[in-house]
This record gives sequence, C-alpha cells and structure tokens, in this order.
Amino acid sequence: MTKSLSELTRQAKEDISNCSSLKELDSVRVFYLGKKGKVSLELKSLSKLDPKERPQFGKQINEIKKTLQDKISLKKTELNTQKIKASIEQAAIDITLPGKTSSIGNIHPLSITLNQIEEIFINAGFLVDDGPEIEDEYHNFTALNIPGNHPARAMHDTFYFNNEYLLRTHTSPIQIRSMERDGVPIRVIAPGKVYRRDSDITHTPMFHQVEGLVIDKDINFTHLKGILHDFINSFFNDEMSLRFRPSYFPFTEPSAEVDLLSNDGQWLEILGCGMVHPKVLDNLGIDNKKYSGYAFGMGVERLTMLKYGIKDIRLFYENDLSFLSQFK
Ligand code: DAH
Repeated sequence: MTKSLSELTRQAKEDISNCSSLKELDSVRVFYLGKKGKVSLELKSLSKLDPKERPQFGKQINEIKKTLQDKISLKKTELNTQKIKASIEQAAIDITLPGKTSSIGNIHPLSITLNQIEEIFINAGFLVDDGPEIEDEYHNFTALNIPGNHPARAMHDTFYFNNEYLLRTHTSPIQIRSMERDGVPIRVIAPGKVYRRDSDITHTPMFHQVEGLVIDKDINFTHLKGILHDFINSFFNDEMSLRFRPSYFPFTEPSAEVDLLSNDGQWLEILGCGMVHPKVLDNLGIDNKKYSGYAFGMGVERLTMLKYGIKDIRLFYENDLSFLSQFK
C-alpha cells in the first residue's frame, strides 16, 4: 500500500473513533466514503494509473472502503447504545420514593355532635323527625302562639321570601308538623338547620338546633329537668351543673333558659325550654285538659363549642382542614 493510502486510512480511522455523535459520524462518512469523498476520489484516480497496477490498487481501495464501512457501522451501534442508555438514565423513576396516597376524610364536628345527640335521645325512647327548611309563617310563628303583631317576631331576624314563606328561624315548627301528622302522645326530637340574619363571632346566618317534644298524660316540669340533666351528663360524659333560669317563649308556659357551668366557671346558655303552652295544643285540636308536655330547643354549635373549647363559631363553616382534621 502506498504511503498516502495508509496515511488516509489511519486518519479516517482516527476521525471515526473521535466521533461523539451520530451526526458527526455521518459527516465523517460523507467526507471519506461519499460520492466526492476522499476514498472515492482515489478510485477515480485509477484511470490515470498504468493498466498493470490498476487491479492491485483497486483491490486495496476496496479493502480500505470495506474496513472504514465496518468501523463506521460499529461506531454507529456504539453511539446508539450510548444514546439509549442516557435517555433511560434521564427518565429513571426512583421507586424508593413514597407514592401518592389519597387522604381519608373525617366526620364534621357538628355531624359528630348531631349523631351523639340523636343516639342519646333514641336510647331514651325518642323518635327522630324533620321538617322543611323553607317554612310557612303559620308553622314558624302563628301555630306557635306568635301571631302577626306579636313582639316576639322581632326576636327572630327572619329571612322572608314573601308574605307567606320564609327560612325557618328555629326547629320549633317541626313540633307542630309532628303533632299534625302523628297526634299525641308523642316523644320526638328534630335536628336541623335554621336561619337568621345575624353574623359575628358567635352567630352565623345558618346554624343548627335540635328540638325536643314530649306530650302525654301527667307530664310535668320535673320530667323536663330529668331528661335534660341526663342528656347533658351523657353528652359531656361527666356530671355537669345546670341552671334553669326563668324566661319567656310564646309557645311555652312556664319557660326557662338553661345554662351550663363551663370548666372556667362561667354559666353559658345552651337551650330554651318549657311546658308546651295550652294554646299551642288548642291550635292543633288537642285536649289540653287531658294532655300536657314539655319542649326544648338547643343550639348544636354552642354545645359543640363548649365540648371542644372552640371559641369562634365561624370555624365550623370555613372548611379549614387543619381545624376539621382534629376531629378524628
Ligand atoms: N325556638 C326557640 C329559639 O329558637 C328555642 C326554644 C325555646 C325551643 C323553648 C323550645 C322551647 O322548644 O320550648 O330560640
């Protein structure tokens, strides 16, 4: 082989092994083996040679061509493998990382309280009833001995739809609906949402009450005191002190408000109650000489706040998970 041919071969091999990308490798291939490449040009120079030397020279060039082609194809495989490896490494998944899990929710504190209240009263022989949140003014007021011009209507900051319909301001209208449907004797509680135009640290425009109603023969105030003491002790799972304070509600006579002695020595109002007013029974056509009974209505938010030491009622409605998740 001539000196220039072996130099060409050496240089080509070196260029091939120095390639670091497929693109580079292809331009090296074109440079040596392309139509106008260095090796191809050598082949063309064959015609200028002595005919005797041509076969020998041609053979050599073809061998060089073959060698370089082989080397290029090896290099190509090598570069391809490198490329795949790099992309695998880049896209690698760390299977030791913790996976995504879905977090499990929990029951809202007010629902916990409502469930507990229902359970306690069901165990004491009460049925659970409910009624419409959009109420008519007859059930919300008139039937409860609060006629249209009665000042007690001003105690309720009512959301009215029109002259007849409103958002119920208390659960007491369910007393009327239960007695209309089932008559007496009756022993029910009715939990539910109520609405008033009021909003601050201790009031929200919607809140919850649980109404209670017992009508039977020979029911008196001591029955009412007894059931409320039992309920409160059971709800707080402790021996609690209650104070019955004389009060006024149009639908009960006598009426009382009940305060609970809190851990920090304060009396806090938790419910209103009384003996059902004879007029209410009369409105429903129930013989008030034969039947009497008691009723009560308690604030669910207030009881929950006392039980868990919650200071701001609005926390119940802000859906702040750091607050809600404490009630597992
Ligand atoms: N409905 C009253 C209120 O929302 C609470 C209440 C008081 C309910 C006395 C009663 C009751 O059943 O007897 O303020």
